[in-house]
Amino acid sequence: MRTESRLVRWICWLTVITAFFLTGFLIGWFSRPGSIDISHNVGPSHHLREFLDEMQAANIREHLRKFTRLPHLAGTEQNLRLAEQIKGEWLDYGLDSVELVPYDVLLSYPNSSQPNYISIIDQLGNQVFNTSLAEPVPEGYENVFDIVPPYSAFSAKGQPVGDLVYVNYGRTEDFFQLEREMGINVTEKIVIVRYGKIFRGNKVKNAMLHGAIGIIMFSDPADYCAPGVQPYPDGWNLPGGGAQRGNVLNLNGAGDPLTPGYPAKEYTFRYRLEEGVGLPKIPVHPIGYHDAIHLLMNMGGEIPPNNWKGALNVSYRIGPGFTDPFRTQKVCMNIQTNNQVTRIYNVIGRIRGAVEPDRYVILGGHRDAWVFGGIDPVSGAAVVHENVRSVGQLLKKGWRPRRTIIFASWDAEEFGLLGSTEWAEENAKVLQERAVAYINADSAIEGMYTLRVDCTPSLHTLVYEITKQVSSPEQGEEGVSLYESWHKRDNWTGDRDAPRISKLGSGSDFEAYFIRLGIAAGRARYTKNTKTERYSSYPVYHSVYETFEVVDRFYDPSFQRLRAVAQVRGGLVFQLADSQLLPLDASQYADALTKYAHTIAQLGQKHPQALLMYGVSFDSLFSAVQNFTVAARGFHERLETLDRKDPIQVRMANDQLMYLERAFVDPLGLPGRPFYRHVIFAPSSHNKYAGESFPGIYDALFDIEHAANPVLAWEEVRRQISIAAFTVHAAAMTLTPPA
Ligand SMILES: *[C@@H]1O[C@H](CO)[C@@H](O)[C@H](O)[C@H]1NC(C)=O
Ligand SMILES: *[C@@H]1O[C@H](CO)[C@@H](O)[C@H](O)[C@H]1NC(C)=O
Ligand SMILES: *[C@@H]1O[C@H](CO)[C@@H](O)[C@H](O)[C@H]1NC(C)=O
Ligand SMILES: *[C@@H]1O[C@H](CO)[C@@H](O)[C@H](O)[C@H]1NC(C)=O
Ligand SMILES: *[C@@H]1O[C@H](CO)[C@@H](O)[C@H](O)[C@H]1NC(C)=O
Ligand SMILES: *[C@@H]1O[C@H](CO)[C@@H](O)[C@H](O)[C@H]1NC(C)=O
Ligand SMILES: [Zn+2]
Repeated sequence: MRTESRLVRWICWLTVITAFFLTGFLIGWFSRPGSIDISHNVGPSHHLREFLDEMQAANIREHLRKFTRLPHLAGTEQNLRLAEQIKGEWLDYGLDSVELVPYDVLLSYPNSSQPNYISIIDQLGNQVFNTSLAEPVPEGYENVFDIVPPYSAFSAKGQPVGDLVYVNYGRTEDFFQLEREMGINVTEKIVIVRYGKIFRGNKVKNAMLHGAIGIIMFSDPADYCAPGVQPYPDGWNLPGGGAQRGNVLNLNGAGDPLTPGYPAKEYTFRYRLEEGVGLPKIPVHPIGYHDAIHLLMNMGGEIPPNNWKGALNVSYRIGPGFTDPFRTQKVCMNIQTNNQVTRIYNVIGRIRGAVEPDRYVILGGHRDAWVFGGIDPVSGAAVVHENVRSVGQLLKKGWRPRRTIIFASWDAEEFGLLGSTEWAEENAKVLQERAVAYINADSAIEGMYTLRVDCTPSLHTLVYEITKQVSSPEQGEEGVSLYESWHKRDNWTGDRDAPRISKLGSGSDFEAYFIRLGIAAGRARYTKNTKTERYSSYPVYHSVYETFEVVDRFYDPSFQRLRAVAQVRGGLVFQLADSQLLPLDASQYADALTKYAHTIAQLGQKHPQALLMYGVSFDSLFSAVQNFTVAARGFHERLETLDRKDPIQVRMANDQLMYLERAFVDPLGLPGRPFYRHVIFAPSSHNKYAGESFPGIYDALFDIEHAANPVLAWEEVRRQISIAAFTVHAAAMTLTPPA
């Protein structure tokens, strides 16, 4: 009996323990984040909804207020303090870890005891006119020190003296027109161009290429004042005394000019300054339109065509030089800006993924500002802050994303995307193995009209899905989704009925991640109506008037637009980090490639005889795109029947999706641009801000009718077509079944 009762007791114990174990196992199994998540098919998970609803307009306003009280120029004490403050708050919000990551990079500042300015000198050398040394400080900020005056970062030092030549926006086509149609040579001249249309560094490069000894850039009211709007502080237009700061580098993705390709650590070898990448060899300086009038009003030479005329009360004569009786006057630039190796700090925060900690989704945006950074970048940094706070709230409730999320507050973006590029360089090996996507978080607003999205084609579907989950921030559109509002306001002009999404160019921190490393990337912000609003970027861009007030009073008084952008950016990160199957769409890539192939072939077909004569054909490219299309369709068909309960099958499919963008990287890079390695997308060689598709072919075809040696030029076109065809076909192969 004793042994029998013992046995019964044993069996009871065993049953209880087994039951406990099973219950625990089942709880564990079903609460495993993402493990039984089918949100990809049946709409968003309740966690996404909770996350989106957590984000509050009032909080974003508070973050913006807090981060715009003082200037935060890269390399200054204030910007380090801000980094430490952000680190502390991200830890409080609940991130697993936050660290400051320093680099020593080349920055550039004016000499505070020898200010930069431009003067008009008479024949005796007297300076009869000087441009202003600073912008009038806006009301409420009179006691703020350390406002850096308008300057062109990385300008060469010097005092060139010469005659002015006006070259419109300083674009490639403007210089072509000047030389080829107007017959004017800028060698030994000082070029004056208006800001707008293209990245300022491209203007400087063009001026150098054509032999100018200096370049002045001014903000014309035609490009920096909206009709019917008052100058700041009564409205959001640029006042006449305001000017646009900015770097004038031509880095082509190199990051720190002295350590191209490698992180700028203490031990890193540095080039001499003369060897630095992308540094201009001539003095450069920006001015506002009040000063510009004085330089332009007495200019001589021809009156230009109407599309060269701005909105100032001058005739925009081209020069060279002044007209009678001012003919003997010259222009002198006085530029004393210094380059200086300076320490910068990125803030890197992490949430460790619960299921796939070795897969990273990155949300990065810069913290450094030219002055207060009301729009650029703090409207974006405030949004990141609210994203971190909101995700922290979910963490505190026990949720954890399937994959690791990395939040980055980059430094020295304004000096050439330096913080983000150095971190990409330091972590390149890990990122190319583990990074799923990079979402950029620069300025969240540049207008008051609708959403603007630039992203890799594989993110299109997710962007549409997320914007359907977000409400329109516009008054009178209650109950309307952001998607519907955006669709109505910016209907796709191309081949389909959907809101417009554009190609990524550059000019912000996604560059190294997308163009160099081949990580799927995207950006979203609120924008103006590009059909009716013709001014460039936004009027007070990079001036002292980019304050908290310009957003609070004009751009987004209710902060609903910034909230919507926060939900879009945050929603993208959330779904990329938490969906069981990566929400990336290879079919969208196929559609985009088809479109780009037709566009580039049409460009080639403008030269039918040359194509015949030099045996140039786009057939291989079309064949590769066709192969890619078939592979992408097949891949997504197989996904439909994928066994979602088999973690290895899921991981295999996800790896194919993650590595798809990587497959477009050519390790050799584009001609003359080794850090631009994406074969499908690169910043335009004529405007860093714009994206160019099949950039290798595009550049080979550019202005080919003027090629010095047509045989060699067309050979290069053939070479570039073959590289593109090979790369697209090779990418298609990564989508085929494993065996
Ligand atoms: C700034 O200008 C002052 C006065 O001319 C000069 O002594 C100083 O060396 C300059 N600073 C730098 C860093 O060049
Ligand atoms: C311009 O600045 C120079 C140097 O400070 C000064 O000598 C000159 O008088 C100024 N000219 C005018 C018109 O203010
Ligand atoms: C412009 O002038 C310089 C020197 O005067 C000359 O060397 C150069 O070839 C000229 N450029 C063109 C495009 O005519
Ligand atoms: C434009 O400039 C001319 C000559 O400088 C002047 O007579 C005229 O009053 C100006 N017009 C306006 C609208 O300011
Ligand atoms: C967008 O344009 C298409 C074709 O032009 C049209 O059929 C569709 O109704 C438009 N959609 C919206 C929301 O305006
Ligand atoms: C496309 O696939 C076909 C069939 O596999 C192959 O013969 C062809 O070479 C491929 N095209 C390219 C550009 O690789
Ligand atoms: Zn920015």
